Amino acid sequence: MKRSTSRWSSRPAALPGRVGDQRRAVLGGRGTLRPSRTAAALRPTSNRLSARLSGRLWGLLVGLILVAAAARMVVAAPLGLPAVPIPPDNPQTPEKIALGEKLFHDKRFSATGEISCASCHAAEKAFTDSPKPVSEGIRALKGTRNAPTVVNAAYLTTQFWDGREPDLESQSLQPFVNPVEGGLADHGPIIEIVRTDPDYVAAFRQVFGKTAETITIDDVAKAIASFERTLIAGDSPFDRFYFGGDPDALTPQQIRGLSVYLVQGRCNSCHVIEQDQALFTDNKFHNVGVGIDRIEGDVPELASAFLKAKNAGVDVDVEVLTNPKSSELGRFAVTDDISTVGAFKTPTLRNIALTAPYMHDGSLATLEEVIEHYDNGGFTGEGPANPYLSGGIRPLGLTEQQEEDLVAFLKALTSPEYAALAEQTPDATRDDAPARPDTPRQVRAPGQGAAPPVASSIPAAARAAIDPAQ
Ligand code: HEC
Ligand code: HEC
Repeated sequence: MKRSTSRWSSRPAALPGRVGDQRRAVLGGRGTLRPSRTAAALRPTSNRLSARLSGRLWGLLVGLILVAAAARMVVAAPLGLPAVPIPPDNPQTPEKIALGEKLFHDKRFSATGEISCASCHAAEKAFTDSPKPVSEGIRALKGTRNAPTVVNAAYLTTQFWDGREPDLESQSLQPFVNPVEGGLADHGPIIEIVRTDPDYVAAFRQVFGKTAETITIDDVAKAIASFERTLIAGDSPFDRFYFGGDPDALTPQQIRGLSVYLVQGRCNSCHVIEQDQALFTDNKFHNVGVGIDRIEGDVPELASAFLKAKNAGVDVDVEVLTNPKSSELGRFAVTDDISTVGAFKTPTLRNIALTAPYMHDGSLATLEEVIEHYDNGGFTGEGPANPYLSGGIRPLGLTEQQEEDLVAFLKALTSPEYAALAEQTPDATRDDAPARPDTPRQVRAPGQGAAPPVASSIPAAARAAIDPAQ
């Protein structure tokens, strides 16, 4: 599917010969970035942004208030993020969000009564299950993949590491019935509970105007998705520095790390920072050399066995989360295109200091290990890089100091509310970013509807998506 006018397409292309162009675009046309130019050079967008805002701010605010009143929704994106896209057929209401939050935490929706969404997506761990390398569902059954954060998942154009679901609504129906997650045979038991529990019956009547016997699983999915669309985190020290114009929000080391991120590390070509917002993802799929070593010798056999099973009607969600080898096929499970073997979606880097270990298989324990992996050109140890490796991944030649600076920068991506939550919870992973929850928020216009699904992308589109360097 071609998405020529979507917000996502405004990103400058990361072509090898045009790194300078991209850098200029990121830096607002100021030319080459040198670490010595520090805060002023790294902040050219903020002045322009505030000039643009002051002109339009009142119109924007009035519009926002009118639209919010009409749709009974208020969508305020924190500093550093665009408006939250809300699908027209699932508008936000406070009651629906509250219902979704209750559903998200209800352990009765699993075969053993042990597991809710929150078991693997816990608020104090920035909505992951850190420090587990791979998730554990009912009876401590292990899946194959590391739980990504649900925070800011509202912005993603596909869901799951391989993008096999198009939106939050469809995604939310899978964990209940995956044998290594909720373990239910089908959604029947959930329907039974929401149609008989008096609190749910009252809530679904209020939110959807439904009588008990007409509540459907799609209503459940809509409420959960609405709750997830409120899990939005920006306003990190990085945002206050880069978009908010506060020169003291980052330490000198973190500012040097930002420079490594943008220039020599080329992290920005996939974990995108735009002129006035940063999702830290391009919503595309790349093989960065993680996990592929476990299947490299058998790719042709595995791929054809997988296609056969898929054509015979095997449930892809179940197959990739229960079969470690199928899991490593990555994006191939969706595209059937061999060039996308071992490619996974670029994850956000927000709150990354709170969500160790890293990568789709949780195989890299620390941020230092991640940086080392990239510095090595996408493979650890001996031997040549895997044949499916993204052209955007190659040895970086970073000094030890640059690696440390980069890690320090990644720790500046923690939002204050999640730093505070982690701080209050003894066993949650810690981060040293200062919490400043009193920072004023930037209000933007509400989104115009859902981003288009790309889970059914044709192979040609997938080929274009797999490698930003082509
Ligand atoms: C047993 C642990 C577990 C449970 C329970 C669970 N999840 Fe997840 N979640 C995961 C894992 C692991 C993945 C990644 C799987 C993959 O990509 O194949 C994931 C992926 C996601 C994603 C995609 C995020 C992205 O970046 O693509 C969302 C959204 C999500 N889960 C929401 C939910 C909701 C809502 C529920 C409850 C209905 C839920 N999860 C229950 C472990 C869990
Ligand atoms: C070619 C695109 C690309 C480039 C360049 C890139 N990344 Fe990534 N990054 C990804 C993808 C894709 C993943 C997930 C890979 C996987 O799990 O197999 C990822 C994963 C990560 C993770 C783990 C996130 C998590 O939640 O587990 C971190 C941290 C990270 N990258 C940081 C960086 C840094 C720092 C740089 C620059 C040195 C960088 N990346 C360069 C695409 C890229």
